[in-house]
Amino acid sequence: MATTIDSPRAPHTVRRNRGVNWEKWGWIYMRASGVVLLILIFGHLFVNLLVGDGISAIDFAFIGGKWSDPFWQVWDTLMLWLALIHGGNGMRTIVNDYATRPLTRKILLAGILVAVVAEIVLGTLVIYTFDPCPVGSPADLLPSFCPVNQ
Ligand code: HEM
Repeated sequence: MATTIDSPRAPHTVRRNRGVNWEKWGWIYMRASGVVLLILIFGHLFVNLLVGDGISAIDFAFIGGKWSDPFWQVWDTLMLWLALIHGGNGMRTIVNDYATRPLTRKILLAGILVAVVAEIVLGTLVIYTFDPCPVGSPADLLPSFCPVNQ
């Protein structure tokens, strides 16, 4: 009797051919965000740790100075959003691979979603509401452009 072997490219599971294939887009997102994150993360590490006085220059004034520049606000926002969605989607994949009990899986996936949303919201708020010149702070801790240093 002849045996038919499936084409190696045939899908492992049968899925309905309707609607958006979220798993495929999630897979593509991991690769695309990985490439962009390489630039964002290594650019961030280079500027913060190697340029000028390097790591010893990092203090409140350094961060205050960076977040007063729209370029670094956008850079850090992209890094925050891309890395958290990338990390959250990666953790979702691991949970789906290893959590066999449906309730355990649901709880873990909900925990990941809550953590990702909370950190994106709080992180974005910090970047855009950060005050580099808080009133009443010692002048030597603040960036040079603060009124107290003029
Ligand atoms: C340097 C930048 C990064 C690159 C190039 C990168 C690349 C990748 C790629 C291609 C995958 C998919 C692997 C697969 O499907 O087999 C992946 C998975 C993953 N990434 Fe990243 N990533 C980067 C940064 C990050 C960061 C910052 C986080 C955490 C916030 C993270 C967390 C994860 C997790 C949890 C997975 C899932 C691992 C798994 O499925 O076993 N990655 N990464």
